[in-house]
Amino acid sequence: MNLEVVILAAGQGTRMRSALPKVLHPLAGRPLVKHVIDTAHRLGAQLVHTVIGHGADQLRARLAGEAVRWAEQREQLGTGHAVAQALPAVSPDSLVLILYGDVPLVSEPTLQALVAAASTDTLALLTVTLPDPSGYGRILRDAAGAVVAIVEQKDASSQQLGITEVNTGILAVAASRLADWLPRLSANNAQGEYYLTDIIGMAVRDGVAVVTQQPANAWEVQGVNNRQQLSSLERIYQGEQANRLMAEGATLADPARVDIRGTLTTGRDVVIDVNCVFAGDVSLADNVEIGPNCVITDARIGSGTVIKANSVIESAEIGANCDIGPFARLRPGTRMADGAKVGNFVETKKTVIGPGSKVNHLTYVGDCEIGARANIGAGTITCNYDGVNKFKTIIDDGAFIGSNTSLVAPVRVGKRATVGAGSTITADVGDDQLAVARGRQSNIDGWQRPTKKQ
Ligand code: UD1
Ligand code: CA
Repeated sequence: MNLEVVILAAGQGTRMRSALPKVLHPLAGRPLVKHVIDTAHRLGAQLVHTVIGHGADQLRARLAGEAVRWAEQREQLGTGHAVAQALPAVSPDSLVLILYGDVPLVSEPTLQALVAAASTDTLALLTVTLPDPSGYGRILRDAAGAVVAIVEQKDASSQQLGITEVNTGILAVAASRLADWLPRLSANNAQGEYYLTDIIGMAVRDGVAVVTQQPANAWEVQGVNNRQQLSSLERIYQGEQANRLMAEGATLADPARVDIRGTLTTGRDVVIDVNCVFAGDVSLADNVEIGPNCVITDARIGSGTVIKANSVIESAEIGANCDIGPFARLRPGTRMADGAKVGNFVETKKTVIGPGSKVNHLTYVGDCEIGARANIGAGTITCNYDGVNKFKTIIDDGAFIGSNTSLVAPVRVGKRATVGAGSTITADVGDDQLAVARGRQSNIDGWQRPTKKQ
């Protein structure tokens, strides 16, 4: 049977106390519901249906590029009613996996096993045993241990409230069965809602087997209702990432102080100091060292490169054995060749720094191409912008730019050329030339400084 996934995400999320719909709150930089959508696709779902209600427009806008079918549930009349809104778009011969937009960490292996257990004649239910089951639907079993029904907290007897095996809400069932059962749900219960959980009793009556499985970790089925739960799932997720990195051979100064909001891949013997944040796609080759408090987004860092404390790098490609920071800011379009150096309080943007070249102190280079083994002195500024247009600066191999130079682009400094400190360079400098463009120094003899009146 083909697999289709229905994600329930119509609820309001009042306890988040937020203008943002709950399922759009980010976990590891991605909206909660995006984690669930991604998991659904990884499972090979033919179609992913998402039931939306509260904040539907915001969800549609934020997730515009996602391969999902939206089903609108205008009034939140319960989980059974929610699934019914998606059902018309579900192929009648498919197997349906029901997930929750606010349960972001349920894993692929857990769901694969659940889906594998389900068929036209078997409903597979994910349950979990909790020390404190309050709030959840309880799993009722007969004397032989077979599941007979789920009873919601608000409908449960005091004896049923003592049951610690609870419904996670996640289940796999044939679409044909849902088409039969959902129209027969009633809202005759304590909450006046159409409970999806009532299909369990119907399955038992129709001779459909109900099998249960439990997730490998209880946190997989934890939902987010408030910001405390969101932060606790964030920490669990980050802890898992940290464990994975260490298993793959990275050293983390403190696994509790590294955050990965995207994908981070590491080579061997990578060392990451405390309070680093990695976002988007980042790869660190063998022997890369990252100092404390670095923020690295969408970057590839070559082997043996050292990034010192408090550096911020975004959309950059860094070669091997480079030296960066402390306090460097590499903006989008920065490319450093092997052995290049960018030091403290240097900002780069759309700039190529050739092999072995150094930009060591207090400098801005933007829209710039620097050749090999050039030296850019302290306080150099590329004046790349006239308020409307951006212009390019080219600094050729072996050039030496004296301190406090302004390079007014478009401009080229030739091979092995030298620029005297304090110059404002407005015209090209040829190969092997010295350019000095500053007021000549004049020394005045016997200069009398002004004196204060007594
Ligand atoms: C439901 C289950 C309960 C289970 C619990 C696990 C039912 C009747 N009960 O509880 O057995 O222990 O989940 O968390 O199914 N939603 C909609 N539309 C609605 C109602 C809910 O889209 O009309 C969505 C919510 O956005 C949420 C999910 O369904 O993502 C679960 O709803 P929630 O109210 O949190 O769960 P309960 O109904 O309390
Ligand atoms: Ca509820």
